[in-house]
Amino acid sequence: MTIQKVGVIGCGLMGHGIAQIAAASGHDVVVRETEQGALDKGLGRIRKSLAKLVEKEKLTQDVADGAFGRITGTLDLADLADCDLVVEAIIEDLGIKNTLYAELGRICKPATILASNTSSFRVGDMGAASGRPERMVGLHFFNPVQLMKLVEVVKTDKTSDEVFAEAKAFGEAVGKVPVSASDTPGFVVNRLLVPYMAEAMRMVERGDATVEDVDAGMTLGCGYPMGPFTLTDYVGLDTTLSILEGWHAEDPSNPLFVPPALLKQKVAEGKLGRKSGEGFYDWQGDKRA
Ligand code: CAA
Ligand code: NAD
Repeated sequence: MTIQKVGVIGCGLMGHGIAQIAAASGHDVVVRETEQGALDKGLGRIRKSLAKLVEKEKLTQDVADGAFGRITGTLDLADLADCDLVVEAIIEDLGIKNTLYAELGRICKPATILASNTSSFRVGDMGAASGRPERMVGLHFFNPVQLMKLVEVVKTDKTSDEVFAEAKAFGEAVGKVPVSASDTPGFVVNRLLVPYMAEAMRMVERGDATVEDVDAGMTLGCGYPMGPFTLTDYVGLDTTLSILEGWHAEDPSNPLFVPPALLKQKVAEGKLGRKSGEGFYDWQGDKRA
């Protein structure tokens, strides 16, 4: 099977990027949101990112226009029924994801491959909810999708070899380097990255260092492009908290998974990072103020 028509569910931070790279590599894309406002915002982000890539001479105007022209927005899940691949990138809530997968299992054509961009949940749980676990795979892209080269391709114990191979080929077709990962919490990257981010927060909670000094330490001392606090703001404090809460609920004995009080407090205050304009830092649009 050749993947030509791609459905993307959720046009937020990740979904808009996934829709964009799929369209830029020649696929027809249908992107679904639940509200018109969110859809308009997501499509606006795609336009802005394409314009930036044209400005930087990474894409020609023709290619950018062609990519945008291949994207259709919808509020109706039924418009994804004949997609060859559906990539889900909605909020990190397993209950909401499972409800969605049950619906996708009912409406999509039998050959559709279902893929989740989840940061932390077991892909197999969503495969079970869909009623077609052999056609379920993880496709975990990294933020910002347009710039980060990696995609983790996650095989569950039920994913068929054919679906896994198709998913890897799709990752390559959209210009990423796929790595294979098992269906374990956090796969490869987040299992290392998220406990590191949480430990940075605990360091600040203990009063051992400031947010700014931790970030300076990791950028200047280790050459990381962003320190852990800038990165948490970039990823979203709500998403980071959901990841830790999910892991902690599954394995309360692991101290690495305990959600830091500082993170819980910020999320309760609506300080979600770049997306809300304030997190550990203040943000103006996509840049730190
Ligand atoms: N589309 C198009 N262009 C973009 C863009 C996008 N989405 N995002 C940034 N750019 C452009 C910027 O506009 C900028 O252009 P100018 O130089 O003309 O201003 C250029 O790319 C570089 O961006 P920045 O100025 O922001 O500078 P940077 O050098 O810091 O690069 C970065 C940005 C590539 C994001 C870099 O900071 C980086 O690699 N950060 C780490 C990101 C990371 O670790 N991601 C993984 C997060 S974890 C995850 O994703 C998994 C999970 O499940 C939570
Ligand atoms: P986000 O909050 O920016 O976007 C989620 C979008 O999904 C919102 O626009 C919301 O309106 C929409 N949505 C919610 N329910 C929906 C439904 N039933 N149908 C259609 N749209 C729906 O979140 P995000 O950061 O883009 O994260 C999306 C997924 O990607 C999560 O599973 C997250 O763990 C994962 N992820 C996030 C990052 C990151 O850095 N933020 C990186 C990799 C993976």
